[in-house]
Amino acid sequence: MKDQDALKKMAADAAVEYVKDGQVVGLGTGSTFRYVVARLAERVKGGLRIRGVPTSLETARLAMQAGIPLLADDGEWAVDVALDGADQVDPQLNLIKGGGGALLKEKIVASAAARFVVIVDETKRVPVLGGTFPLPVEVVHFGWGTVARKLETFGCRAAPRMRDGELFITEAGNLILDLLFPKIEDPGRLETELEMTPGVVCAGLFVGRTDIVVVATQQGIVTLNRPGARP
Ligand code: A5P
Repeated sequence: MKDQDALKKMAADAAVEYVKDGQVVGLGTGSTFRYVVARLAERVKGGLRIRGVPTSLETARLAMQAGIPLLADDGEWAVDVALDGADQVDPQLNLIKGGGGALLKEKIVASAAARFVVIVDETKRVPVLGGTFPLPVEVVHFGWGTVARKLETFGCRAAPRMRDGELFITEAGNLILDLLFPKIEDPGRLETELEMTPGVVCAGLFVGRTDIVVVATQQGIVTLNRPGARP
C-alpha cells in the first residue's frame, strides 16, 4: 500500500513526461508540485532545455535551487504546458485550487497555457466539488467583511483564512476567504458569479480549463483527458 506522498511522486513523474525540449513550462505550487520540480531538475541535468513560469515565490525558489531557468514575472510568456496540483477534481475535470493560497498566479498561468496538466493522487477525486474542502476566493482588503456576507448569499459560509492568528496575506497583498459549500452543483456558473462580484480578485474554481489529469492510484497511473483535448 503506497502512502499519499508516494502517490504524489508517482503522479509527478508521469506528468513530467508531457514536458518537451524547448518548451515554456508553467510551474504550479504545492506539495505535489515539489515532486514535479525534483523530476524536472533531473531531466534538466540530463539536457532538457526549458524555461519556467513559477506560480509562487516558493516554487520560484525551489526551481532556481534545482537549476531550472525562469522567465521574468512581467514577461509576455507563451506557455506551452502548465503543470499544477489541485485540491479537488470532479468527473468533468473541473477543479478547486488554492489550498496553498497561490490561486491567482496559478489561474493566470493556467489561462496562458496551450495545455494544462493537473497532477493528483486519487484522494483528490470527488463526484461533486465542495463538501469537505472549502473553496478559496482571493479578495481585496477593502470591505472584505461586507464582501464575505455578499458571497454567503451564494449558499456558503465564508471565513477569512488565518495564519498565526493574523489574516493570511497573498503574494498580491490580498486576503483569502474560504467558502464552505455543502456542494457546488454548477461550478461554471458559480465561478462566473463569484468573479463578477466587486472585491473578488479570483475564485479557486477552475472550470473547463483542464486538458489532462494525471491521477496516481494504488493500481498505477490513470490519465483523464478532457473530451476534445489533445491526448
Ligand atoms: C496552491 O495554491 C494550490 O492550488 C495547490 O496546487 C493545491 O492546493 C494542491 O496542493 P497539494 O499538492 O499540496 O495538495
